[in-house]
Order: sequence, then C-alpha cells, then structure tokens
Amino acid sequence: MSLEKSQALFERSKKVAPGGVHSPVRAFLSVGGSPIFFQQGKGAKLIDEDGNSYTDYCMSWGALALGHAHPKVIPAIQSQVALGTHYGTPTKLDVQLAEMALEQIKPFEKIRFVNSGTEAVMTAIRLARGLTKKDKIIKVDGAYHGHVDSLLVNAGSGLVTQGQSSSIGVTKALVQDTLVVPYNNTEALEVAFKEYGDQIAAIILEPILANSGLFEFDKKYLERCRELCDANSSLLIFDEVITGFRVNAGGSMRKYSIQPDMATYGKILGGGMPMGAIASFSKFLDGLAPTGKVYQAGTLSGNPVTMTAGIAGLKVMKDDKFYEHTEKLGSVLDAELEKVKKTAKTPFSYRRIGSIFWIVPGVSELPTGPNDIPAVAAETYRKVYHQLLEKGVYLSPSVYEVAFISLAHTEDDMKYLAKCIGEL
Ligand SMILES: Cc1ncc(COP(=O)(O)O)c(C=O)c1O
Repeated sequence: MSLEKSQALFERSKKVAPGGVHSPVRAFLSVGGSPIFFQQGKGAKLIDEDGNSYTDYCMSWGALALGHAHPKVIPAIQSQVALGTHYGTPTKLDVQLAEMALEQIKPFEKIRFVNSGTEAVMTAIRLARGLTKKDKIIKVDGAYHGHVDSLLVNAGSGLVTQGQSSSIGVTKALVQDTLVVPYNNTEALEVAFKEYGDQIAAIILEPILANSGLFEFDKKYLERCRELCDANSSLLIFDEVITGFRVNAGGSMRKYSIQPDMATYGKILGGGMPMGAIASFSKFLDGLAPTGKVYQAGTLSGNPVTMTAGIAGLKVMKDDKFYEHTEKLGSVLDAELEKVKKTAKTPFSYRRIGSIFWIVPGVSELPTGPNDIPAVAAETYRKVYHQLLEKGVYLSPSVYEVAFISLAHTEDDMKYLAKCIGEL
C-alpha cells in the first residue's frame, strides 16, 4: 500500500500548519506514522490521495450518521449553495431545523444554533452561570467537552478538586471555578455539593462518555446528579454532542429517562456541516441575548447550508431507519467479535452502545473508567492500527477515541471488521 502522496502532503502541511494539521488527533501522534490525507468519501468508504480505499469507522468523529456524501443530502446542499451560502439573517430553514430537532428532543422548547460543539458548551456554561448567578461548574475527570478554557482541566489529588489547567495558556483564574470529580463516583458528587452547594451553577456531563473510551454511568449516578441539582438550585447540563440524535432519536436523556435542564448538541445535527446547538426550556434559553442578558452571537450561526444539511440528514435518519439499521449491524458485530475473540492472537475487549463502539486491543477485560485505560492498550493500538489500515479499515487514530456505525455500513462490513480484528 503506497502512502507516498499523503506523506508528501504531510511534509508540505507541516510547513504551513502547526503539526501539519488543523485539529491535533489528526496528526496520528497516538498511532505513529504519517496521517493519511483523504480526497473523497463515498458511503462507508474513504479514498485517500494515493487511491487507497478504506471502510471508515471514524465517520468524522461521529458527525456522519449517514456515511459520506449521502445521495439525498448532497443535492439538497447543492441547491442551497446555488441560492447563496449565508445571508447573515434568519431564514425559513433555521425555523424548520429548530422545529424538527425540538420535535425529537421534547420537552425542550427552544434551541440556539452555533457552529461547533465547543461553542455550544461554552454558551451553556455561560448561560448556567448567568441564570443561577453562581460560578462553579462540576465536570467529570477525563471527560472531554471541547476546548472550552474552563473545562481544559485535570483533577488534583483529592476526591473533589479544583481543576488544574491541562493546557498552557489557560490561566488559573479561568479554571478556579471548575470542580473535577471522578467518573461515576456518587460520593464525590455529594462532597462537592456539601462543600460548595451554594456556589455550583451546573454539573456538565456526557451521559455516555464517548470521548475517552466508551463508558456508561450507572443510572443511579445520573439520577443523583438530577437530585443534587434540584436540591441546590443548580442546573444539569447534558453534553450530547456525540450522543444526541445518535443513541436514539431523543439522545441519552431519552435513553435514561432523565431530564437535564439544558443539553448541548453538534455533529449529527449538522448533517456533515459545522454545527453546534444548545437546547433547553424557554425559561432558561430565553436568558440568551436578545431576550436575556447572557450574551451570545455568531456571524455564521444558523447558516442555510448547515441548516439544509441538518434537515436532510434528520429526514434520512428517520426515513431509512437509522436506529434499527445500526442496531442490527451492531448485533452482527457483537456476535462476530465474540466468535473471533476465542482465537484472536492479540487479545481485545469491546463495548458497544447503539451505533457507537470501542475496541481496546491488548487487554481482554474492558477498562473500568476513562482514567484506567492501561498503557498496554495504547501501545497495542499503535501497533495494530497500521495493520488495520493495510486491510482497508480506518478507525479513529487513538485508542481513546470511539468508532461509529453509519447508515452506509453493511453486515459484510461488520463481518470483515471482526475478521480483521481476529487476525491481528
Ligand atoms: C462530548 C463532546 N463535547 C464537545 C465537543 C466539542 O465539539 P467540537 O469539536 O465540534 O467543538 C466534542 C467533540 O468531539 C465532544 O465529543
């Protein structure tokens, strides 16, 4: 397999972009070697600059529920582009997508479109602070919510710690109001509220951790989050940037029947175009400008191309039964992996939640939490990653990242993937 053109492009790119990329994980630092430069996506396939074809399980980090270049989404985008890419005004399209999205994430009443998940989270936090007139935010250690300054934090040594900045350039002042708690630890939550209850604006969490491995919280933990927020007049924010519109039509709040006060979205909702959104009840979301005093704005927010892609995408998901299709394929993958597990040369563990799955090579037992992913898993992933590329399988280039089944994948793809994993 030649990767000559990709390698040459990477060398060129390093001269003009930091690390040769425009988002760090793309640089392949976790798996080594040179990142692959792609020129085309079609259904479940990605084709690189050297003409190699791969079945894609990264799916733009979960943004592409339908696969690449869906035949109903692309013409819709093309027709809109011909009418202009952005007017900087409200349009019928933003009303339409808002109505469609809210229909799925009832009882939320309103939504504000932004341009990325990071922006959505940043806005939700500002809004929570503005509404509650409190400053502190609780986040789970190891969870990723985009590159929002105040959430780029690591835990310290105690059960509940004031966040310590995990990136230079983020000042102490920016993280001093972030409290970090360990994954799934109810006791830590209780301690946080006991110590800081009257100062906590919100808990933010991904109800399914899908960005540092794949982990479910105990339902009791999520319920306790809800209770503690209610008892302390704090807000519960679900970050559904990955899980929203994916784990089912209503996202994880529907899956667990727990109603957050706000939720953040992105990825799938943009139908493959840049997207972020905050949804909530009117009494909260009207706190945003122009009705409220929490300022938020965006030149390209709600742009008609993204709105068109989002509308077309949600429609195809419904018409083509995204949830049924991906669940069916997921069960095939479960069964096939179970078969090859017995004979696989490299041990592996595996978890799947709907269309999201996570393969951890090098260990036969799943890690217990985002901070327990052993070094051997990262080392083994680094080794086997390139073998999988050779076999035409493109996974996300890091063991901490999950994989996605799209509407474009087939049963044969699942069988082939399992066969490849068994051969590693
Ligand atoms: C749960 C979660 N929140 C927020 C974000 C940030 O979204 P974006 O990369 O669009 O800024 C991500 C990105 O992967 C995410 O997975």
